[in-house]
Amino acid sequence: MAIQTIPTKPFAGQRPGTSGLRKKVSVFTQAHYLENFVQALLDVLNASGADAQALTGQTLVLGGDGRFYNRAAVQIILKLASANGVARVLLGRGGILSTPAVSAVIRRRQAFGGIVLSASHNPGGPAGDFGIKYNAGNGGPANEALTEAVYARTQVLRELRISDAPDIDIDRQGLQQFEQMQVDVIDPVADYAAVMRELFDFDLLRTMFQRGFTVRVDAMNAVGGPYARAILEGELGAPAGTVVNAEPLEDFGGLHPDPNPVNAEDLIAHMQQLDAPDFGAAMDGDADRNMVVGRNFVVTPSDSLALMTAHARLIPGYKDGLTGVARSMPTSAAVDRVAKALNLPCFETPTGWKFFGNLLDAGRVSLCGEESYGTGSSHVREKDGLWAILFWLSLQGATDRSVEALVREHWRVYGRNYYSRHDYEGIAVDVANVLMRDLRAALPFLPGRQFGVRQLVLADDFAYTDPVDGSVSGQQGIRLIFDDGARVIFRLSGTGTEGATLRLYLERFEADVALQDEPVQKVLAELATLADQVAGIRARTGMEGPTVAT
Ligand code: G1P
Ligand code: ZN
Repeated sequence: MAIQTIPTKPFAGQRPGTSGLRKKVSVFTQAHYLENFVQALLDVLNASGADAQALTGQTLVLGGDGRFYNRAAVQIILKLASANGVARVLLGRGGILSTPAVSAVIRRRQAFGGIVLSASHNPGGPAGDFGIKYNAGNGGPANEALTEAVYARTQVLRELRISDAPDIDIDRQGLQQFEQMQVDVIDPVADYAAVMRELFDFDLLRTMFQRGFTVRVDAMNAVGGPYARAILEGELGAPAGTVVNAEPLEDFGGLHPDPNPVNAEDLIAHMQQLDAPDFGAAMDGDADRNMVVGRNFVVTPSDSLALMTAHARLIPGYKDGLTGVARSMPTSAAVDRVAKALNLPCFETPTGWKFFGNLLDAGRVSLCGEESYGTGSSHVREKDGLWAILFWLSLQGATDRSVEALVREHWRVYGRNYYSRHDYEGIAVDVANVLMRDLRAALPFLPGRQFGVRQLVLADDFAYTDPVDGSVSGQQGIRLIFDDGARVIFRLSGTGTEGATLRLYLERFEADVALQDEPVQKVLAELATLADQVAGIRARTGMEGPTVAT
């Protein structure tokens, strides 16, 4: 066994996007593709110390969502880590760690950082996607300065330092020596479960299950399964079978593990039956997203964040109140109304979890969320699917009210923010770019214009100044805001791997309880037409309507 120095050549396009480097499996499995990226990352991490060997003596956490190529990638990364000075790797057994679990392990074990192998909700399997991202010592996604440095390094990389040791047994828990490095294969669930125990009243949840409260959690054949099973069925005594599709499969069994009513249609169908469980939920590929469903009642993620904020004091981990809340810009303003009533600071950030990191680290917010089925809190530095499920379970236990009753009561008190996201997928990249460019050019002429009953009062390209470090992020989405508070937002996705995806976000506020039970798409149809009028979506793309509306 020895450390080898192997010549290599840079690959174009290894710049991390909204959430790490995501590519087709066929791209990742090219010789040296993964190796180059990881070597560049380790070089940058080593160079971040005064002695250019910052990783010496340090611990890294490693694990992924179990998708195709996860196991092979783990072996490659171990060989690179051992040759680049890492002292210890904490590896989830079987190469498995959900994204929030990586964050929890980094924080609890005070590791230097961690590597997450996942393409989140993107399809898996040999024809699907793979991904890798680095999380820093706070447990959160690396900042842009670091990911840019890694990208720059990939472009000049000439050499790999890699061990030629044989593969280790990643399914055997415990310590193994790997050249100069120790590999500690850990139970993927234990650290995460310990964090959940600190936040929630497990006795209350146990009592709910003893009294026959029924739950269906759809793990969508992804990594959330083992976590939900261990905690809900193992520790809290929910009956076996509460968690379905609980075995992480390399191709997610063909499911698209992105929990929205379209992809999780099986769960929705179950929740509409006469004998539906009391509560339903689904998670995505790496278990950081969640969808919450009551009997015949789907909760919009924006509403979920608002409700969690309103009731947080009922949960032991938040009983002293929140310091503040944050939502991404396209997320509905439902939470803003709660924050105002509770006199809490409320931040509006660009899309992407990384923008919450500074606010959480500085203790300025305790809860945050995005319209894209992501909610989380200061307990880790990622959004967290199972945490959200336990939160909603706890709310039902503490109030003895159903999901639907909780949401309707919320609307009665705060009003309802009708909300929908329309995705136009697979648009030619240049068509999408020209659409956005033309919209930007039109911005100065839009304010003051009348569209039917409403007048446009603000049209801009959202820019954000981080209140903690002062960094500025521009061009984060085009906002059209109307005099009645309605909003129409346009953005291009930063996570796709094929063509461009235009996201159109529609929102309208309704205070009148008598008008709060209308079909969402009907209520928002007028805004969708208006969006098309302003941006020419149909004419430019040739598409009759969105690929998916959630
Ligand atoms: C999408 C979501 C965004 C989320 C990100 C990572 O990004 O819209 O809220 O943070 O996935 O899960 P997008 O494809 O819109 O850039
Ligand atoms: Zn995810």
